[in-house]
Amino acid sequence: MRDLRISVTDRCNFRCTYCMPFDEYQWIARREVLSFEEIERIARLLLPFGIEKVRLTGGEPLVRKDLHRLIARLAAIEGLEDLSLTTNGALLGDQAGDLYNAGLRRLNVSIDTLRADRFLALTKRGNLEEVLAGLFAAKKTGMNPIKINAVIERGVNDDGILDLVEFARTNGLGLRFIEFMDVGNSNHWQTSSMVSGREILDIIGSRYPIVEHGRRAGTAPSVDFEFLDGSGDVGIIASVTQPFCSSCTRARLTADGKLVTCLFSESGHDLKAMMRQGASDTELTDQIAAVWRGRIDRFSDERLEALQSSRGYQPEARKKIEMIKLGG
Ligand SMILES: C[S@@+](CC[C@H](N)C(=O)[O-])C[C@H]1O[C@@H](n2cnc3c(N)ncnc32)[C@H](O)[C@@H]1O
Ligand code: SF4
Repeated sequence: MRDLRISVTDRCNFRCTYCMPFDEYQWIARREVLSFEEIERIARLLLPFGIEKVRLTGGEPLVRKDLHRLIARLAAIEGLEDLSLTTNGALLGDQAGDLYNAGLRRLNVSIDTLRADRFLALTKRGNLEEVLAGLFAAKKTGMNPIKINAVIERGVNDDGILDLVEFARTNGLGLRFIEFMDVGNSNHWQTSSMVSGREILDIIGSRYPIVEHGRRAGTAPSVDFEFLDGSGDVGIIASVTQPFCSSCTRARLTADGKLVTCLFSESGHDLKAMMRQGASDTELTDQIAAVWRGRIDRFSDERLEALQSSRGYQPEARKKIEMIKLGG
């Protein structure tokens, strides 16, 4: 176990077509959502398992009231060097200062297109101008690194790849392209909608010479490439076409306190119930160890095997937890 994703809420102010396209979901009841104290307790218990990085996500983490207070609690944990946040950026303009003052330095902002009309169509509720203003407000605080996450969907935004590269290079931002994945069952994923990491790289390479650097620490999901002219780097997360299950070191904590061992899991292990029934730190640690020892997930490997076989792959055959619950 090396990195931890914490979903702080399943709610979101956007409705991205590839993530949570419906207006209504069966939301986690408020009393079931972990308090900041409970999140901090689990983070502290997980640290000795080898956690080096913690990322807050959701749903949209910035819709969780006073998120900066959780940042301050986590930033104070000794030995946790790498604390980051992934956001859609809509509320960054208001919150960037508080987040920075609470100790946040590393930030990912999801921007899939630089065309305002398309941004609205993709997110259903998003205003690109507001998101860009939030991004630059965060940059002004001194947060660094700031990276853009972009999911590429065929026929939707694949003609904007070079625009995103240009934008990131010009503004000194990192950039991660993510293959469209079949997380959850709401997004009606089909192989044909996915643009492979290879295709994305070819498009980037057609304009900018790049050199591969590989995966950070050998285990990060992103394979990184550096621009030969020294203007930054770009990463590709190709979990569909180049799965990395065998080197995955990521644990996930859902907003309602379940420990999940894979992005494509069907269920999690309920730590919140144990905590609220009075479990001791030792009991919780023993349970976490048992879950992690029993981990046999290799979903993306299996998906690729199915995709390459004559039987094909049926994305809806398995009832996966939705991205907003798990924390993307
Ligand atoms: C689930 S979101 C949560 C944080 C925040 N709301 C945001 O959008 O950045 C985290 C990341 O997952 C990505 N994501 C969501 N659905 C995806 C999918 N089906 N395939 C690949 N990435 C996806 C988003 O683009 C985002 O970068
Ligand atoms: S990708 Fe992020 S912003 Fe978009 S619907 Fe999912 S949680 Fe919300």
